[in-house]
Amino acid sequence: MSEGIHLESLPRGTWLAPSARIARLTQAIPQIEAVLAGETDTVLIQATLACLLWDTMVWCNWVGFYRRVSDTMLSVGPYQGGMGCLHIALDRGVCGAAARTGQTQRVPDVHAFAGHIACDDKTQSELVVPVVYQGHVRAVLDLDSPHRDAFSEDEAKLIEELVARIFSDQTTLQW
Ligand code: SME
Repeated sequence: MSEGIHLESLPRGTWLAPSARIARLTQAIPQIEAVLAGETDTVLIQATLACLLWDTMVWCNWVGFYRRVSDTMLSVGPYQGGMGCLHIALDRGVCGAAARTGQTQRVPDVHAFAGHIACDDKTQSELVVPVVYQGHVRAVLDLDSPHRDAFSEDEAKLIEELVARIFSDQTTLQW
């Protein structure tokens, strides 16, 4: 059990099959949304999401946000895991690609992604979901794993939908 939500306690790095990963996410997501219900401060939201997704996705070695600070640059935001790169140009890396295109980047093998930035050379796969609010990419949620192909299409969809609900245009958020 984690501090914030009720989940089976598993050591960091535990590898689960896709169906078990989906089951764990499906159990966690409503609890995460209950914790964040009514919250409008995006630093609070990003910090808490990073924490609770880190607790949930024990198959990750890094979970967190890069914030869009200009037309050309991302800067690191709230995260869990080893120290991340401080700044990422929009024309670089998986995070830059997600921010530039507004499209989720699911990368089963980071070595096959031209321009991948290796903040941690243990990372093998990555999922980056843009945070779009009022038509603009404000940040990206970056999930890294030391396992190959650690993010299925179904998981990507669950995370995309969670991000869309939490950073919904229907809510007045403070950035
Ligand atoms: N791998 C990312 C950089 C961020 S870190 O790994 C935390 C990328 O290629 O954008």
